[in-house]
Amino acid sequence: MATYIPPIRSANPYLPFGDQRTAPFYGKDILSVKQFGRPDLEYIFGVAHEMREMVSRVGTFDLLKGKILVNLFYEPSTRTSSSFTSAMERLGGSVIPINEVRYSSVSKGESLPDTVRTLECYADVIVLRHPEVGASALAAQYARKPIINAGDGVGEHPTQALLDLFTIREELGEVEGLTVTMLGDLKYGRTVHSLARLLSMFNVRLHYVSPAILRMPPEILEEIRQKGIQQTEHETLAEVLPQTDVLYITRVQKERFTDLDEYDSVKSAYIITPDIMAAAKEKMIVMHPLPRVGEISMDFDADPRAAYFRQMEYGLYVRMALLAMVLGKA
Ligand code: NCD
Repeated sequence: MATYIPPIRSANPYLPFGDQRTAPFYGKDILSVKQFGRPDLEYIFGVAHEMREMVSRVGTFDLLKGKILVNLFYEPSTRTSSSFTSAMERLGGSVIPINEVRYSSVSKGESLPDTVRTLECYADVIVLRHPEVGASALAAQYARKPIINAGDGVGEHPTQALLDLFTIREELGEVEGLTVTMLGDLKYGRTVHSLARLLSMFNVRLHYVSPAILRMPPEILEEIRQKGIQQTEHETLAEVLPQTDVLYITRVQKERFTDLDEYDSVKSAYIITPDIMAAAKEKMIVMHPLPRVGEISMDFDADPRAAYFRQMEYGLYVRMALLAMVLGKA
């Protein structure tokens, strides 16, 4: 006997399954977390929940059957590109991977606007990672199809911040009232730029721990200050670890340094070990967008507070939700 599989319900009760005319994100670009408000986050996370349930129940289903995504990556990626591929394929769609722009016409000198105008002839949505701040916004100016920013240099990484926030909610149940400590390369780490902005929509306390040369950019501090959020900067973790509910660690972004001696001077500034974590709460989580290059000792991985592997799985559901939304199916 065939089992009945109910269709994906949208977070919007008025949106019949698959009716793109009323899907609020239909055809939209995802360029920065600044474009979202609290109701949007609720909506995205509602759809992500549905996706999680569907994946656990049926694995793959045909919500985006016949749709095509281009993964256009001008910088290296493991998690972002493969999770978007998995997300699209679990929704029944397919993917054109351009992970090595060296082998595409980009190496002949083709401009980004021309490359996206080419690829959108063959696809319904473009996921773009590029080394320059604002590259996705530029691409979106030229493209008719949705552009999803998968990292624009040291600028933003909005889909990562959404999955980070989803992780916090799933793991701790609530964002309001939390103390979040960001540690490591806060200057060049785009994930923390997006996450700090997103968190500033909630009543949170933010601590930034970094070497002096890798502090959070002043314009982001100012933006968050204007939202009335309490922020403090530190050079040592011990000052803030005991109060921390979410410890968000980042890699020192070697590829952004012009002076490698400077990189060497800060690359091992912080290393999280079980010993250090003895001073932290019992109920708290440690996150990292990954890859890690020594900031968290593998000895800590078995600790229930280590959420970085679970964080990647939450990313799949959030990216499935975003694809379904911009393609008018949720
Ligand atoms: C991050 C990135 O690319 O910004 N990785 C990711 O998308 N998970 C973090 C990093 O590279 O350090």
